Amino acid sequence: MQQQLNSLRMLAMASFLLVGACSSGSVDKSFNDCPGCPEMVSIPAGSFMMGTAIEDRAPDPVSGRPNANEEPQHEVTIAQPFALGKYEVTIAQFAAFIEDTGYNASQGCILLRDGPRRLRLDPELDWRNPGFEQADDEPVVCVSLDHAIAYTQWLSEKTGYNYYIPSEAQWEYAAKAGTTGRHFWGDDPSQACKYANVNFDEDPPPCEDGYPNIAPVGQFQPNAFGLHDTVSNVWEWTTDCGHKNYAGAPTDGSAWIDEENCLFRMIRSGGVQNILSRTTHMVRAGRPKTGTAPNLSFRVARSLGDAQVIMAAAPAVAPADYAWPVDSEAGQLFEVHCAPCHIDPSSLKGVYGTERATIRRLIRDGGNNIMSMPAFSGRISEAEIDLITDYVMQQKAWN
Ligand code: HEC
Repeated sequence: MQQQLNSLRMLAMASFLLVGACSSGSVDKSFNDCPGCPEMVSIPAGSFMMGTAIEDRAPDPVSGRPNANEEPQHEVTIAQPFALGKYEVTIAQFAAFIEDTGYNASQGCILLRDGPRRLRLDPELDWRNPGFEQADDEPVVCVSLDHAIAYTQWLSEKTGYNYYIPSEAQWEYAAKAGTTGRHFWGDDPSQACKYANVNFDEDPPPCEDGYPNIAPVGQFQPNAFGLHDTVSNVWEWTTDCGHKNYAGAPTDGSAWIDEENCLFRMIRSGGVQNILSRTTHMVRAGRPKTGTAPNLSFRVARSLGDAQVIMAAAPAVAPADYAWPVDSEAGQLFEVHCAPCHIDPSSLKGVYGTERATIRRLIRDGGNNIMSMPAFSGRISEAEIDLITDYVMQQKAWN
């Protein structure tokens, strides 16, 4: 009951915020720029605390300590209202782009399997065939950030408006929609299935939402801004460069791009495989921007005023452009375990340093963004870790 009251209060607050921010005064602020374009929601300007207060943070599943990549909390002011997709981009919407342009967004995708060798790059997989059945109204997956940017450029040309992939700050502001805790629906785990596509494999399941895998967009209740699926179902690209925490992050809502064309970008929202404690809009991870995954999608943003966000053009790439040498045991190990994310050899360029011991430790124990660079100890032998470390050190792109 208390929970229901809270959500009612949240909804009431949403209408207030939206009406207050928009002259038209209508409560539903969603709109479409063309038939088949993503439905958009106006997000008012405002300030919020980005990051999570220590008491609201979930434990890192590896270290047991509060997630370290959600600190420090810092105030961010979004000075300009903007629009954000009400849902993630669907397969039907992405297909219209491919049909219109002939853009090649097929570069293989990760095949998820059971067992320790869970990840494998399958060059045959792509957004149309991610390795499992998907309906046209499900979020498009197996798209890299480059593909997502290409889609926004096409939308901009088609509609005359400035579409782009949101900054991480815009994304978090919109996902929080005025709330502060870990869940926009409150703290009662049994409520989670109303608002998010929850992984109910856990024993006992917190609740059952009817979708063991990816659900079509919009099946769950929206947050106070009217956005659906901001938690779970699939991860979503943002444009910020990969950083292990928020130290030094901009406070004006812009994307944190502090190196030219940075290779690792932040992803948000979490996927349906996440355990309940990580089924929250707070989770952050990183991915090489050229990588694809069967649980990674995107939603688009659009400028409402004069503000323009110009994003670098994304070249279409063929899988062959990313060929790794596989004529050795190490190369084959790399292909199976590493290429799914590091499809592009240039994504190995010294974020953690270039010392052999550092690289080996990273491969063995994982990166400091949980679910970013996974730990391989226990999945492959120590000897295999040595082989792969040497292989990484030998790559031409490594200098
Ligand atoms: C699930 C995706 C994924 C897989 C699989 C993966 N990585 Fe990574 N890797 C990342 C991400 C994301 C980063 C960026 C650092 C971070 O955020 O932790 C990274 C970073 C790295 C780095 C550091 C890059 C630099 O410039 O310092 C190296 C080296 C690396 N990975 C090697 C490997 C090797 C070797 C394998 C296979 C044994 C592998 N990775 C498998 C996602 C992955």
